[in-house]
Amino acid sequence: MPKLLSGDAVAQFQRDGFYFPVPVLSREEAAGYRRHLEQHEAKTGKPLQGNWRHKTHLLFTWADALVHHPKILDAIEDVIGPDILCWTTNFFIKEASNPGFVSWHQDATYWGLDPDDVVTAWVAFTDATPDNGYMQFLPGSHKIDQLPHVDTFHKDNLLSRGQEIAVEVDKSKGVGVPLKAGEMSLHHIKLVHGSEPNRTSDRRIGLAIRYIPTYVKQTKVRDSAMLVRGADKFHNFDYEPRPQQDLDESALATHADSVERQVKALYAGTDKQAFRA
Ligand code: NI
Repeated sequence: MPKLLSGDAVAQFQRDGFYFPVPVLSREEAAGYRRHLEQHEAKTGKPLQGNWRHKTHLLFTWADALVHHPKILDAIEDVIGPDILCWTTNFFIKEASNPGFVSWHQDATYWGLDPDDVVTAWVAFTDATPDNGYMQFLPGSHKIDQLPHVDTFHKDNLLSRGQEIAVEVDKSKGVGVPLKAGEMSLHHIKLVHGSEPNRTSDRRIGLAIRYIPTYVKQTKVRDSAMLVRGADKFHNFDYEPRPQQDLDESALATHADSVERQVKALYAGTDKQAFRA
């Protein structure tokens, strides 16, 4: 028996490589998460940037609470089983009327994870619409092989290397992913997806949470992750502790160590030492 998703929803995820929408938070709760983020940004006087957009759940107790949200984990358990690590989180923030976009790509390209049983929960802090650059998915593309990608490092590309698929993708088959604030979509690590710029007067904010079953291995570096449900008999990752207070000394140290490992994996073969702003 699935814990949250219907049998049809699980079958659809397996067939198409994605499923949405899954209601997780009320509109008020989603607004609360946005407020947490924006209160921090108000203190620093700028949008969340660079390394802090990644593995943000190691820095802030509210983000940590979200990656442990029982509804999210129930849906994840339905697709990858009961023993779950949170590998990373990535904020995808598109500022109002901004050229920022995400080229067509497969997440698996630089991550170093094996096998491909990796699922992203993309949680909408604001509505995601055709006008503000919602994601688009290519149904069934998780079943094709890893495609060749080229690194562009384009300044407006929100991906780590600005990587894009180097072969022709039939974008006309793309399915838009509208979400209301508080809903999430699920997608497979090899699903082809991308998104266009935000043409509206408000920000579009989503947090991508990457979950793996404990048997998955990192092939590029000795990596770390957080055990968020079940048990781990594989010990393929060092454990990350949960933050006790926002940005306290130990949270900052954990985050710095963890991001360093991830940057080594994601930027292998380049001279990059940190995530791009
Ligand atoms: Ni992606």
